[in-house]
Amino acid sequence: MSIPEQPKDFREPKYYAVKRHLLDIIGTLTAGSPVPTERLLMAQLGTSRTTVRQALAELVGEGRLVRRQGSGTYVAEPKVSWPLRMTSFTEQANATGRAASTHLIDARRDRADEEIATRLGLRAGGPVHRIERLRLVDDTPMALETSHLSAARFPGLAKHLRRTDSLYQVLRDEYGVVPVTAEETIETATATPREAELLDTETGAPILMLSRHSFTADGTPVEWVQSCYRGDRYRFVTRLTTE
Ligand code: GLP
Repeated sequence: MSIPEQPKDFREPKYYAVKRHLLDIIGTLTAGSPVPTERLLMAQLGTSRTTVRQALAELVGEGRLVRRQGSGTYVAEPKVSWPLRMTSFTEQANATGRAASTHLIDARRDRADEEIATRLGLRAGGPVHRIERLRLVDDTPMALETSHLSAARFPGLAKHLRRTDSLYQVLRDEYGVVPVTAEETIETATATPREAELLDTETGAPILMLSRHSFTADGTPVEWVQSCYRGDRYRFVTRLTTE
C-alpha cells in the first residue's frame, strides 16, 4: 500500500496524506474499534514514525480518535452536541435527560481586577466571589467553570453553593436574581496541566473556552464566567433567527 496521491493544485504536508488515509479507515469502522498501530502504518505507508504520530495526534485532537494508555488508539465516540442557550448547566443537562453534578473545587473572596470590576459594574479592588466548579454530566467531567460575582450583592453565596449544585437556582431562590440575557464568547485554547487533569485529557489538548457575561432584565450585570470544555468531546449548537 502507498500514500494516497496528492491533489495536483496544492502542496500537502506528508502527514496529511497519512491523516486522509486514516480518515478513510475511520469511516469504515464503528466507535471503539482499534486503528492500525503506528508500526503497521509506518510499514504500510512507507513513512516515518514522526509523520504517523503527527497524523494520529491531529485526529485525537479533533476527537476522531482516542488514545488509551498502554493499549492503543481507537475510533472515538461521536461528539456530544450541547445547545447554547440562556439556561443553566443543570437545567440544560436535565432537559436532555442527563444527570448533572458538580464538584465545588474552590470558593473564595477575591478583589476585582479592572476587567472583572468593569464587567460586574464594581470599583476595581471591590470584593467578588471567585467560584471554581467542575461540572459533570453522567459522571463524566464536562467543563471547568470559574465564575465571578459581586460579593456585596450576593452575601453567603459560597455557603449556598456547598449545598446546591446550581448557581442559577441559588441566585433565584436566595437572592431573587434571574439572569435573562448574556453575551457569550467562544474561543479556542489548549489545556493547562491542571485543566487536563480535571477534564481527564492531556496537557495541550484543544479546549473550547466559553465566556458568559450575563444580565438581569434591567441590564444589571450578574456574573462573569469562563468555562473550559474539551474541544474533542463537545460541539455547541445554537439557532440563529432574523429577529
Ligand atoms: C452555564 C453557563 C454559566 C452559568 C451556569 C449556571 O454553565 N456557562 O455561565 O453560571 O450555566 O449553571 P448552574 O445553575 O447549573 O450552576
